Amino acid sequence: MRTGCQEVLDPSLRCDDVCQFEAALRRKMVGQQAAVTCVVDLYQTFLAGLHPPGRPVANLLLLGPTGSGKTRVVEAVAETLFGDARAVIKVDCAEFQHSHEIAKLIGSPPGYLGHRETHPLLTQEALSQWHTDRLRLSLLLFDEIEKASDALWQLLLGILDKATLTLGDNRRVDFSQTVIFMTSNLGAAEMDTLTLGGTGFTPPPVRIDERLDAQVDRVAVAAARHKFSPEFMNRIDRTVVFHTLRPEELSAILDIELGLVQQRILASSGGHPFLFNCTRAAKGWLLEEGYNPRYGARHLKRAIERHVVIPLAKLIATGQVRLGDIIRIDYTAEQGTMTFTREAEGLAPMYRPNLTANSAVAPRSGAARAARRYDFPLAVEPK
Ligand SMILES: Nc1ncnc2c1ncn2[C@@H]1O[C@H](COP(=O)(O)OP(=O)(O)OP(=O)(O)O)[C@@H](O)[C@H]1O
Ligand SMILES: [Mg+2]
Repeated sequence: MRTGCQEVLDPSLRCDDVCQFEAALRRKMVGQQAAVTCVVDLYQTFLAGLHPPGRPVANLLLLGPTGSGKTRVVEAVAETLFGDARAVIKVDCAEFQHSHEIAKLIGSPPGYLGHRETHPLLTQEALSQWHTDRLRLSLLLFDEIEKASDALWQLLLGILDKATLTLGDNRRVDFSQTVIFMTSNLGAAEMDTLTLGGTGFTPPPVRIDERLDAQVDRVAVAAARHKFSPEFMNRIDRTVVFHTLRPEELSAILDIELGLVQQRILASSGGHPFLFNCTRAAKGWLLEEGYNPRYGARHLKRAIERHVVIPLAKLIATGQVRLGDIIRIDYTAEQGTMTFTREAEGLAPMYRPNLTANSAVAPRSGAARAARRYDFPLAVEPK
């Protein structure tokens, strides 16, 4: 609104790049609104050049139950910005529990055993390998930080504060263009008790609602404050607590995961591209088999592997499905089994894979281009 030369501005507006980024991220991430909003806001801040100088772009601590999407959101950001989930340097802190293992991250000083053989993970080249002309942003993930050794902890504190690291051979690495994600499922045991409604053999079912979310929030933050030193917590820009997934969210994740299985089939070079669809009954049964609030979506993914991927692999290996087939996957309650039926055949030319860019925003680097994925919805609706 204009009044004279004054104009009221609207800070809630977002630029096109950011809107596309958000839309693409939401297609990959189900729920976890706080996490999605947090990364979208920081992407906007980065594009505007207003991230803090001399520090990482942001230091984010992601907490919450297992299988709720903490690691997935980081991979989804990488896929969305660079077209590849591998465009993030992942440090699995459980692998660095002994101080000497730090050499895998920063290399050994000259003169030390293995100086030449160890190729440090955290080099400037590694950080910038996915950069494009338009986007010079790096993603670094420290997974399960509660398992880090003291040596890794010291290294992390330095990076979070000053955005620099000195390698074994004295080269400096600059993290000022890097978003640092740290995940932890501290407090998991208490969260389990809250989610399952007790520790007994058959605990009462619990409603997964805002009240439970608030309790999980409190437990996660209290566990982090208890475990991590104030100097660490002071370096965190945002703590995001992921929530226990609701049944309807798992249903949406099921659709995403089945789409990914279809992509796998179409992308497997030696295989016979074909399409499959799951009936409502089959999806219902997969959800029943895969629903366990304690394990989040991990349990669901295992159910898909066991009841969809492995049987399909057997059908391919024995030549029962061929190029261009359409396979219907159903569940028959009487027999308690999944059934696989060929609905049509010879449709391959219609479904020749259309390689579309998976990256919503930035142009890709050469490495990302090589790793393109198929990105289209299932063409066939189940009957
Ligand atoms: N909110 C979500 N949206 C979409 N997919 C999800 C979501 N949560 C979990 N998944 C699926 O479940 C898998 C496991 O989730 P993820 O690895 O992110 O768990 P996590 O929260 O990091 O657990 P942990 O603490 O055990 O490491 C993901 O690879 C993804 O396929
Ligand atoms: Mg994880």
